[in-house]
Amino acid sequence: GGRHRAHGPGTNGGVRVGMDQLGPEYMSVCLLADESYQKLAMETMEELDWCLDQLETIQTYRSVSDMASNKFKRMLNRELSHLSEMSRSGNQVSEYISNTFLDKKMDLELPCPVPKSRERKRRQGGMMSQISGVRKVSHSPNISGNTVQRFGVKTDQEEQLSKDLEDINKWGLNIFKVAEHSHNRPLTCIMYTIFQERDLMRTFKIPVDTFVTFMLTLESHYHSDVAYHNSLHAADVAQSTHILLSTPALDAVFTDLEILAAIFAAAIHDVDHPGVSNQFLINTNSELALMYNDESVLENHHLAVGFKLLQQDNCDIFQNLTKKQRQTLRRMVIDMVLATDMSKHMSLLADLKTMVETKKVTSSGVLMLDNYTDRMQVLRNMVHCADLSNPTKPLDLYRQWTDRIMDEFFHQGDRERERGMEISPMCDKHTASVERTQVGFIDYIVHPLWETWADLVHPDAQDILDTLEDNRNWYQSMIPQSPSPPFYTSDGEGGSQGELEEHEVASKFKFDLTVMDQCGPDGQRDSGTTDSDGLPHQPCDESRDVET
Ligand code: CMP
Ligand code: MG
Ligand code: ZN
Repeated sequence: GGRHRAHGPGTNGGVRVGMDQLGPEYMSVCLLADESYQKLAMETMEELDWCLDQLETIQTYRSVSDMASNKFKRMLNRELSHLSEMSRSGNQVSEYISNTFLDKKMDLELPCPVPKSRERKRRQGGMMSQISGVRKVSHSPNISGNTVQRFGVKTDQEEQLSKDLEDINKWGLNIFKVAEHSHNRPLTCIMYTIFQERDLMRTFKIPVDTFVTFMLTLESHYHSDVAYHNSLHAADVAQSTHILLSTPALDAVFTDLEILAAIFAAAIHDVDHPGVSNQFLINTNSELALMYNDESVLENHHLAVGFKLLQQDNCDIFQNLTKKQRQTLRRMVIDMVLATDMSKHMSLLADLKTMVETKKVTSSGVLMLDNYTDRMQVLRNMVHCADLSNPTKPLDLYRQWTDRIMDEFFHQGDRERERGMEISPMCDKHTASVERTQVGFIDYIVHPLWETWADLVHPDAQDILDTLEDNRNWYQSMIPQSPSPPFYTSDGEGGSQGELEEHEVASKFKFDLTVMDQCGPDGQRDSGTTDSDGLPHQPCDESRDVET
């Protein structure tokens, strides 16, 4: 006998009986028998026990995708705990990354109570009777009669604008200039240009005035007083998606409807963003968190608003699609926008890595994606990549994005301070380290993602990856009093042994997909092996708290 483990239900049915649980008759027979029989019986029992343990450990109810994603979470968690021990700012960067990009449903910290007097009355009236934030807007001045301006927007700098838009198919397009030259209507302007470029208005019989009316309505539902999540970011993500869709490795892979869905998803993906995070909305008991039960609160809202706006006057750009097309498009858009919830990042990355490992290409070097599931997986990662593309853009653009996101974070921090709440990581203007955040953000999130994307579409994204690495090194060099050498070098990763410096930890950090070396519940199965970072595995239990 002597089993110590508690058994789950259903594992005890007849087979797993210890010797001591057998009747006295059996025992006496055993005593009479040859000693070797007894020994054999014991051994057989033990082996059987071991086999059942193994079967339990395989955990057939867990999908390969979950196992890979959990492995990545454990790896990232280990790196982050290392980073947080190094310095106070390292700790803050680590907290930011873990709060934003790891799904931590386990941490049940109680929200700070909100002082009643401070709580503003929300705009919307009846409980859940409508989608908040949707307003009627009139755009008549922008569309005079039936004539639509050359780029769908009013401009008195048409020449400049036309010059800016020559870069519509380039990764370095300056969206800031487009905004400047279009009376701050970058989203309408860029979408108009993309739809023209791709001939989508003709393909889907979208009346041009309907298109412009919808786009202006959508654009006005982005908050211009929010520093980062305004229509400029949406325009940027839409244009970045437009370029990724044209990558040679994906040539002719997607249908027109899928292309339409991806660009539309990018355009609506942050609409009516209030400039605070999901966690803030949850902690302050906001209407939105209530509406969506704390699950992907903002992303659900962006979708609801985006689709609701199609119902406004002359806004239904999908009016001439078939019922089937509308259904499919809606399903795809929902999928892509929900995937922009950053707490889903690790599962997206894990699935993308799995796809890269098993990717098939045709004789002409184009990816083989012959089913809906695989194509959707690429599309949701594509929009996710576009959403996380700031650090891959030319440095002068990237730096402007950084200024904006830090502005927005600090604004949230100010609101938290005012309310007497704990200030979210990176949101405290008095302590945050902008440069370190960017380096950490790249090392742990953006680079692993883009490196995987680059593998998928190899060699199409090499320039993007190079820019990312240059930008990372630039921010590293800007960290006050840190003359560490850059670690992304042209000949690959530099490796030194022994004690790791802060910048070296990251340089060795790479998500490695080997699902077979998953830790079992006892945390013993990979003892003695090492990860690609060359460090021995920690016992799994230490980091299991990130699993959901
Ligand atoms: P969102 O645009 O909703 O989705 C991507 C998220 O990544 C974004 O919100 C931020 O939380 C984060 N993010 C994007 N760019 C940066 C950046 N430059 N620095 C730090 N965090 C960023
Ligand atoms: Mg978002
Ligand atoms: Zn976004």
